Amino acid sequence: MSQYLPDLETIAREAGSLLMHYFGRVTIEYKGEVDLVTEADRASERLIVERLRARWPEHGIVAEEGTRRETEAEYRWYVDPLDGTTNFAHGYPVFCVSIALARRDGQLEAGVLYDPTRDEMFAAERGQDATLNGRAIHVSKTSHLVESILGTGFPSHKRHKNPNIFFYHHITLRSHGVRRAGSAALDLANVACGRYDGFWEFNLNPWDTAAGVLLVQEAGGVVTRFDGSPFRLDSREVLASNGIIHQELITQFADIFAGRDLEELPSIPEYVKTRD
Ligand code: IPD
Ligand code: CA
Ligand code: CA
Repeated sequence: MSQYLPDLETIAREAGSLLMHYFGRVTIEYKGEVDLVTEADRASERLIVERLRARWPEHGIVAEEGTRRETEAEYRWYVDPLDGTTNFAHGYPVFCVSIALARRDGQLEAGVLYDPTRDEMFAAERGQDATLNGRAIHVSKTSHLVESILGTGFPSHKRHKNPNIFFYHHITLRSHGVRRAGSAALDLANVACGRYDGFWEFNLNPWDTAAGVLLVQEAGGVVTRFDGSPFRLDSREVLASNGIIHQELITQFADIFAGRDLEELPSIPEYVKTRD
């Protein structure tokens, strides 16, 4: 019997219900130019932090909306009380709660990710099956990039400096398509259960990735940095896949960074001249 998951699932479900209570009736506030936050983010964080502290008082906590609890303990929780805030704030039902436990050395121990709109509970503990609503999940068996579907995301912070549009264009032209759904945590869960064959993003934080990365790993997938080097919680860039297409993705990413075989983005004046 898992020592963490039953209680963690209860906490994530409770936070998910709280989010649904707020869904459709929140006021948008701004943390940055387009970096949104709502009362629901804060209320969910308060609830999760309170429950984690009561259940595991010795553990540290790092949560997106500001909670920093440093302890002597070997273990620390990473909490995203609402991943997909922009979706949530606009009434687009793609968001989740993400909670994960890691050791000081970054080793991920357990994680849950709950999507209250679909009542989907993803859970993983190191060395055990990853599950979705209690059933074991596995990454896809897609063997070539050209037959794959992937996800990515675009940051709201420093968005003018982000080069992901080139990666999006390049990979879109070499796959069945790239989705941009707006919740990095759910994107990783979708790789874990085989709905996506791969996912990448620049500039993520440990609370976005911790639970999802463990899910992908325990579901048989691979997570690295863009160059194939090991992923760490502070890596920020994340490349996750079913493992089979991983090398192909690394090769494509190396090509894009080196400017090799880049398809030019279509020229608007040319398009305007020739469209019928
Ligand atoms: C964001 C989402 C989004 C990703 C952003 C994240 P938040 O998290 O995961 O998909 O593209 O980089 O910051 O702000 O909704 O918790
Ligand atoms: Ca997030
Ligand atoms: Ca968040």
